[in-house]
Amino acid sequence: MAGRIPQSFVDNLLDRVDIVELIDGRVKLKKSGKNYMACCPFHDEKTPSFSVNAEKQFYHCFGCGASGNALGFLMEYEHQGFPEAVETLARQQGMEVPRDTSVDPAEEKKRQDSYSILEKAAGFYREQLRSHPQAQIAQDYLKNRGLTGHIARDFGIGYAPEGWDNLIKYFASTETAVDKNSVELLLRAGMLVEKDNDKTRIYDRFRHRIMFPIRDVRGRVIAFGGRVLNDDKPKYLNSPETEVFHKGRELYGLYEAVQANRHLERIVVVEGYMDVVALAQYGISFATATLGTAASEAHLEKAFRYAPEVVFCFDGDEAGTRAARRALEVCLPTLGDGRQVRFLFLPQGEDPDTLVRKTGTEDFLKRLQNAMPLSEFLFEVAAEGLSLSTPEGRAQLITNVLPSLKRIPDGAYKLQLKNLLATKGQTDASSVNTLLESLSVDAVSFDAIQTVRKTEERTKKPSVKVLSMRKHGLADEALSLLLQQPSLLDFCEGVDQLQELDSEEDIKRFLRLVALLRELPSGVSLNKIMGRWGSLHGSGDSVHLHGLAARESLLDEQGRIQQFQDTLGRLQGQIREQRMQTLINKQKAQGLSGSEKEQLNALLMGRI
Ligand code: UTP
Ligand code: MN
Repeated sequence: MAGRIPQSFVDNLLDRVDIVELIDGRVKLKKSGKNYMACCPFHDEKTPSFSVNAEKQFYHCFGCGASGNALGFLMEYEHQGFPEAVETLARQQGMEVPRDTSVDPAEEKKRQDSYSILEKAAGFYREQLRSHPQAQIAQDYLKNRGLTGHIARDFGIGYAPEGWDNLIKYFASTETAVDKNSVELLLRAGMLVEKDNDKTRIYDRFRHRIMFPIRDVRGRVIAFGGRVLNDDKPKYLNSPETEVFHKGRELYGLYEAVQANRHLERIVVVEGYMDVVALAQYGISFATATLGTAASEAHLEKAFRYAPEVVFCFDGDEAGTRAARRALEVCLPTLGDGRQVRFLFLPQGEDPDTLVRKTGTEDFLKRLQNAMPLSEFLFEVAAEGLSLSTPEGRAQLITNVLPSLKRIPDGAYKLQLKNLLATKGQTDASSVNTLLESLSVDAVSFDAIQTVRKTEERTKKPSVKVLSMRKHGLADEALSLLLQQPSLLDFCEGVDQLQELDSEEDIKRFLRLVALLRELPSGVSLNKIMGRWGSLHGSGDSVHLHGLAARESLLDEQGRIQQFQDTLGRLQGQIREQRMQTLINKQKAQGLSGSEKEQLNALLMGRI
């Protein structure tokens, strides 16, 4: 097993790498004062707001807020995972990445124990399906569902007999080292339930159920799904989250798919265990299922590691369409070049299990082949209820599609979608680009995005950003806009976290104004605001404030909203950068705790 990469190695590596050189090899940089600038590779823009700081070894985009160090850049720009990015940088430096298997030996031991006990539990359930006195009931159930013995074996399907302590007793009766504290291990692995935290009331989680072992890609059993044999509820019971099982990341059947195919061209994502197994039985051995949760970005990323195409299967009913829309949103950021997503809508009342048994392999393969490309689904959803023969309808279509486009990584695929939007919206690609650029959604809070969208919907006119010269600090910029248009207070929901920026007077001043406006009735005049300010904070700042209030703005109301949100977004970017820097400093000085490391990684990867 590949161990963790020791943090000291990562530090050492980052010390040697020159981020300017690294980025310049991919995005041409131009020197500008102390920094290097370029048009941001992470969002569309015509004027450079992407800066690289050689001294701090950081990049930061003032437009979209993207920022990080050399590793973060590689991960973002080349869509690499953390270990992969470390490998790339190390290779470049002629260094070999050491794998530290000795870190946290206690943790490692616990995980190994969990794998081991889960493997044994799977063996126990398989054996029960063969030889338990009531095995016939379970076998009959599987036979009725059309499962062959062969496929049941491939998927390691078993049976948890009736009774409260079969598993407990089984482990108590065996005597290997790992089983000595088997109750504790089983509990931690999610196989037992402890009622009311009472050690004397512990029992088997899975009773009288068909057992589907969930395996990770390396084939280790990490959890189970259990189905009742009748109409009891809940129909399926799944293992809880444990240290070896994270629902949001695992795909049932992926291991089996990888085993069955030398080379996977596509992965199908269905909803149920039985669907995966039935499809495999019919030769469609590349189906996987999420585990009773909606598909996540992590699921997609995982699938794309093994195949370039993902086909989602949904019921044709309303719930299926809803789930499909959610999946559509989730997969946008994963759509790098060479990756494809399609949607297959099944006939009403069918799931892959029933359908493939009814109409056979060929038919199902044909359906997969003809599944709807993401682009088509995206435009179908966006055009719902609109009349594209009117300018209003087309404008709305553009407005609806832009936020989704924004979330797709740059590249050939995005280019195609932009062209498609230009065609459907009866405009040209460069206008689409301009609109896309003016939409700076990723750096602002979700609430604010919603508000902007609503405003745009009302005005039926996409907002246009007018770039102002950046002569002043960001906080002053925000303050000036707020004075010009106090209704911008609506967008100040999350600004209190700006206190965290250990800076300057100007942030404090801005926050003071926000606090003041929150107290005053809306629609209050500038004079009144200034009066209140003077009595609260004295005349010194007042002069400054007057200066800012008097700043001329060429922006209309929409433009100000846009500008204000951009500015807040950039300030948020600074918070992230500061958090990162603090963590990196601490790491160098005294090391980080587990959760701090996680936070740093998340920050570097741009996840938070
Ligand atoms: P479905 O209810 O669609 O069932 O659940 P199914 O897969 O068609 O199952 P069969 O054919 O009746 O055996 C789809 C998936 O949702 C999760 C399971 O992962 C299941 O495979 N689920 C469903 C649960 O986790 N719990 C439940 O109670 C039901
Ligand atoms: Mn089913």
